[in-house]
Amino acid sequence: MSKVLYIKVSPRGKRSYSNAVADAFIGAYKKQHPDDEVVTLDLFNMELPAFDGDTIDAKYAVMHSEKQTPEQREAWRTVEDFIEEFKSADKYVLSTPMWNFGIPYRLKHYLDILIQPGYTFTFSPEEGYKGLVTGKPIAVFYARGGEYSPGTNYQAYDLQTKYVDLILRFIGFTDIRPSIVDPTLMNPSLAGQRRDELIGRVPELAAAF
Ligand SMILES: Cc1cc2nc3c(=O)[nH]c(=O)nc-3n(C[C@H](O)[C@H](O)[C@H](O)COP(=O)(O)O)c2cc1C
Repeated sequence: MSKVLYIKVSPRGKRSYSNAVADAFIGAYKKQHPDDEVVTLDLFNMELPAFDGDTIDAKYAVMHSEKQTPEQREAWRTVEDFIEEFKSADKYVLSTPMWNFGIPYRLKHYLDILIQPGYTFTFSPEEGYKGLVTGKPIAVFYARGGEYSPGTNYQAYDLQTKYVDLILRFIGFTDIRPSIVDPTLMNPSLAGQRRDELIGRVPELAAAF
């Protein structure tokens, strides 16, 4: 039995293109793998601890190999719980909109909690950075209002797929399976067609996951 962690970002509920395709993927996956567990993190509808005060001091204590104060230790335990939950999954599904050419702040906040030295990556002068979340697949469903594919005018503005791909590779992922629905604002009927085509293909994508 595998555990799938579904990280859902868009707060737009049923109107969301990224949620629509990722929900369809999860639905197909569940049908095909009824014994697997799917845990959903709906990032705009859950508490994320502020990354300041004792938490940020606790992070620097880790980085400088210093002892944490009891308050820092307490704050850090929450960060460790998030990381443990993340790392306990065997497979990952992420759906996210583009906001201001990058990702919504809630996803960045979640990543700021997860990405910690010694937990999700390591660094050594000999080997450089090494990701610690290895050997697991992640399906990523992106939506954006404009068009940024190679050859289009605004290709360079796409810091959404670039950042997500970079940060996932940084923490160790190599099996990254992206799907994009666009241009949801510029051409909703084309985007709707692309969304529906993708939804048509999710049984095949889920079967290979
Ligand atoms: C705060 C905000 C910023 C946005 N910035 C961009 C942007 O920079 N580029 C773009 O193409 N679309 C942008 N959009 C449009 C969304 O990417 C588009 O509506 C997409 O469909 C959202 O994903 P969702 O349908 O899954 O919620 C933005 C939307 C919001 C709410």
